[in-house]
Amino acid sequence: MRWDGSSFPEFTPDNSSLLRRHLSKELFEQLKGRVTSSGFSLPRAIYSGVVNQDSSIGVYAGDAESYLLFSSLFDPIIEDYHGFSTTDTHRSDLNPATLSAPNPDPAGQYILSTRIRVGRNLAEMPLGPAISREQRKSVESQVARALSHLGGELAGSYYPLLNMEEAVQNRLIDDHFLFKTGDRFLEAAGLNRDWPEGRGIFHNREKTFLVWVNEEDQLRIISMQQGGDIEAVFTRLVTAVKQIETTVPFLHDPRLGYLSSCPTNLGTAMRASVHICLPKLGSDMPALKKIADSHHLQIRGIHGEHSESESGVFDISNRKRLGISEVECVQGMYNGVVALINKEKNL
Ligand code: ADP
Ligand code: ARG
Repeated sequence: MRWDGSSFPEFTPDNSSLLRRHLSKELFEQLKGRVTSSGFSLPRAIYSGVVNQDSSIGVYAGDAESYLLFSSLFDPIIEDYHGFSTTDTHRSDLNPATLSAPNPDPAGQYILSTRIRVGRNLAEMPLGPAISREQRKSVESQVARALSHLGGELAGSYYPLLNMEEAVQNRLIDDHFLFKTGDRFLEAAGLNRDWPEGRGIFHNREKTFLVWVNEEDQLRIISMQQGGDIEAVFTRLVTAVKQIETTVPFLHDPRLGYLSSCPTNLGTAMRASVHICLPKLGSDMPALKKIADSHHLQIRGIHGEHSESESGVFDISNRKRLGISEVECVQGMYNGVVALINKEKNL
């Protein structure tokens, strides 16, 4: 499907995106001529949701200003997704001491691995959908330089996608370390322009600390390891994020927290997940969904978003990221995972 952006888009009857829910014809007409200082407009913000009618959200921001200039569309979407209203203010807590998440599966029967990531973008830069080629290259070099100063467990190397052998790239993707190529939602949002230039991955020797550069967000800072030691994964992430922020200032808003290109990632920009094997509960999806929903958890497949579960293994993570602190994101995921394991044991 193509759309030239000049008139109110058509939505298919089965479209259940937040874009469709919150964009009226009147609102479209009111906002369509506005342009931010980096040249981003409403038709560009919603293009991905218009051409991908199976979108769950359907909008992206091109810069910090997008969240203000198009707030009459973004704010209701943000409230719908995160339960965060225009009078709420985001809060942060990156103190590992306030997290209580002892390994819920010390025998290693259920949890295969734990991963916590945050998205970050650079202050003074447009977000990915509106960034220029030169600006993207500048982000890459600034981030690679900052990461080269990390020491101890976090020390590692930066590998640009541009020179990477296909076999190496595919192996990193299959092993859950690297982002995929060609995501159609990102493509339509303008986030894949000039691919693969400017993109890459940094990781330490053990691949327990990784940074994706210039994918959906300029940085995705990731801590991960085998098993269910959630506290160790969180502590490593916090140590890294704090160190990186001393050399690379991040785009941050007093109300919305860390700014991201997709409104689902605002605030903490944190997704804390486990890969968990639930063969019994997993064969009764409504029951699994009920427990997940009661803990505000999202269920993804084994290769991340828009993938399927395999052999009873699910990716379970916090759904909300804004209006709750980082510790609350992880604590909520932990509490839900404990409930899922208990249920699985009793079946
Ligand atoms: P993001 O987490 O950045 O929103 P995805 O959902 O696409 O993006 O996941 C990115 C990659 O991370 C995928 O390969 C996915 O399988 C992997 N992943 C997510 N959670 C875990 C986990 N707990 N253990 C191992 N790999 C994980
Ligand atoms: N734009 C896609 C959709 O609306 C993804 C939304 C959330 N995921 C993300 N990776 N930002 O379905």
